[in-house]
Amino acid sequence: MNILKIDNITVSIEEKVILKDFSLTIKSGEIHAIMGQNGTGKSTLVRIIMGDPAYKLESGKIYFNDQELSAMSVDKRARLGVFLGMQMPTEVDGVTNADFLRTALVNRDGKDFKLYSFIKKLDESVDQLQMNKEMIHRSVNKGFSGGERKKNEILQMKMLEPKVVMLDEIDSGLDVDSLKMIGEEVIAYHKVNKPAIILVTHYKRLLDYIKPDFVHIISDGKIVKSGDFSLVLEIEEEGYKGLKNRVSIDCVAKVNKPNE
Ligand SMILES: Nc1ncnc2c1ncn2[C@@H]1O[C@H](COP(=O)(O)OP(=O)(O)OP(=O)(O)O)[C@@H](O)[C@H]1O
Ligand SMILES: [Mg+2]
Repeated sequence: MNILKIDNITVSIEEKVILKDFSLTIKSGEIHAIMGQNGTGKSTLVRIIMGDPAYKLESGKIYFNDQELSAMSVDKRARLGVFLGMQMPTEVDGVTNADFLRTALVNRDGKDFKLYSFIKKLDESVDQLQMNKEMIHRSVNKGFSGGERKKNEILQMKMLEPKVVMLDEIDSGLDVDSLKMIGEEVIAYHKVNKPAIILVTHYKRLLDYIKPDFVHIISDGKIVKSGDFSLVLEIEEEGYKGLKNRVSIDCVAKVNKPNE
């Protein structure tokens, strides 16, 4: 069963079309990497799935299991278990990390929310992510360094336990040790919770830790090539330009030999 189905969506921002007739289906437990040159629509994709109101869904639909996700508010999507670790996490001044997470969970779980378990898990998670304990009581991302913000996104993932995890350039800003640790944390989470994962990244270094089942390259708002991990190696070796030339040569070859 597909937990996420992106069905022929066209997405625009400020009247500019970014994704065109874009489709992708993802099953629970699958890890999909989205790669592509700057400005091709990778963040647009994860933000429209999350429901960012800045983006306009011109046509097409997005489904979570059999429910129409694209008709729901961001809040409802989050309650269902959709999570986005943002490329540039925003500051929320005046709301502490602990209050932010507790409020989110109280609202979602109601009577089932257990304060003691929450505190224990938050404490353990902060330790596992090698974050400074005082960060729990600081305003969300206020004055956090680039790497600390990325760790804070993973802290949210661990606490909220989403079913669809989207991580937009989670590797940017992390030092090599933190990158390894975050990679291992995501894999550990995946092993227990079996979420669908969408990883947006530019680099193999993240995918060495979190091995994707599928790799997709976006160009001009569409998936132009899908493959397995070997596609990442091709990108590292040839760059997108080399790959683009080869993809278009392949297309010409197919046109010339339509029966193959
Ligand atoms: N508010 C806006 N007004 C106009 N264009 C915008 C706006 N927001 C985003 N865009 C454009 O949409 C395109 C896609 O942006 P997006 O953030 O999805 O790219 P990306 O693939 O994530 O790139 P990167 O790898 O650099 O993060 C870019 O050309 C960007 O400039
Ligand atoms: Mg981006």
